[in-house]
Amino acid sequence: MRFDVFTLLPETFSPYLQASILQKAAGRGLVDFHIHNIRDYTHDRHHTTDDMPYGGGGGMVMKPEPVFEAVESVLGAPPACPVILLTPQGRVFNQKIAGELAQLPRLALLSGRYEGVDERIREHLVTDEISIGDYVLTGGELPALILIDAITRLLPGVLGDPTGAEDDSHASGLLEYPHYTRPPEFRSWKVPDVLLSGDHGKIARWRREQSLRRTLAKRPDMLEAFELTKEDQKFVDAVKKEER
Ligand code: ADE
Repeated sequence: MRFDVFTLLPETFSPYLQASILQKAAGRGLVDFHIHNIRDYTHDRHHTTDDMPYGGGGGMVMKPEPVFEAVESVLGAPPACPVILLTPQGRVFNQKIAGELAQLPRLALLSGRYEGVDERIREHLVTDEISIGDYVLTGGELPALILIDAITRLLPGVLGDPTGAEDDSHASGLLEYPHYTRPPEFRSWKVPDVLLSGDHGKIARWRREQSLRRTLAKRPDMLEAFELTKEDQKFVDAVKKEER
């Protein structure tokens, strides 16, 4: 999969892209990152990328010309792949969207800066708008990295364990069960016996129940949306009874 990122702060991407599983994935040819500086597509002496808003008010707005020119020089006109604007006004990113975007061969991400972007970029260039949550950051760089990370780890071969992403919290619709590693006892806190039992059927059932218990406690909204088996339902009913 190929990512093309358009940003005014290209230098913010490399520290993360070069220090993680993402770099390994790129090294193995599973993914390709191209970071483009929007400022390189300006033609005035000051390399202007923003200007005052028509109608007045505070803050600056990203100008349309360099953004259109950057995206169209790299991707053609109309762009050869979806172009996502990172903005707090977009639909809220989640695991399902990550899974859908991971199916694409190519994706462009546009990181906005300043108070916003000229509306014509929204209307005539981008194909989708995504937010990473209901809070406002100084720009779309961290959100773009978050999408890149969440999408890349879903690409075949990126995680060492081929089933690596299957049990993830949110992937199955339930939160993930608790994990333990050595030592079996730490400061008198013990690893649950069942995990040391070697009984894989029992372990699977215990993990399922822990997932259900956690999701019920922390994210009841997710459990509502989840299709429970009969056995799950019995367990959830019992937990609810415990609580009463
Ligand atoms: N830019 C600023 N805040 C953002 C957010 N929450 N999501 C995506 N892009 C943003």
